[in-house]
Amino acid sequence: MPCYAKVMEASLTRLADTGVELRHGLYQRFFAAYPERVAAFLCPDATSRRMTDETLQILYGLACEEDWVWTLVAELVATHRSYGDLPLAEYDGFVDLLVEELGQTLGAQWTPNCAAVWQRQAARLKAMIAKARADWDRILPRTAAA
Ligand code: HEM
Repeated sequence: MPCYAKVMEASLTRLADTGVELRHGLYQRFFAAYPERVAAFLCPDATSRRMTDETLQILYGLACEEDWVWTLVAELVATHRSYGDLPLAEYDGFVDLLVEELGQTLGAQWTPNCAAVWQRQAARLKAMIAKARADWDRILPRTAAA
């Protein structure tokens, strides 16, 4: 297992030990940052579980250099076109807030090395989302309704 993945696995194990559901703090932060987006979430209880879990899986998958990551990111950006023209800044914000919330939850166990490892994968995910978004807009230009 690559060394970045080991660090991230340790963070996830510690997160499980805390018993804290990361999604609650994350969604408080996300909705505080983008209040105009709240109405787009018809079923926040279900969605907050999936968006949080999938983002953690993707970040860990990136650290493991897993091939499925690109396919999943491309697919999620395609499905998210149904929720409006989501600006890249909001995708970036969601990913960054998740890492921040993880750091706050882990407290003293969130070392500078740990933060750097997670931020490294967050930067890769943000770049992938930007590429997927640009690719979809080129291949399937948005209509007035999308
Ligand atoms: C890496 C980031 C993200 C991941 C992994 C992710 C994942 C998901 C998943 C798995 C769903 C459930 C079904 C579906 O595929 O449509 C979902 C729904 C949704 N996502 Fe995301 N998402 C991300 C970022 C975002 C961002 C940044 C926004 C808004 C700016 C957003 C808005 C929504 C909305 C509005 C729904 C539907 C909610 C509902 O009907 O309750 N997502 N997302």
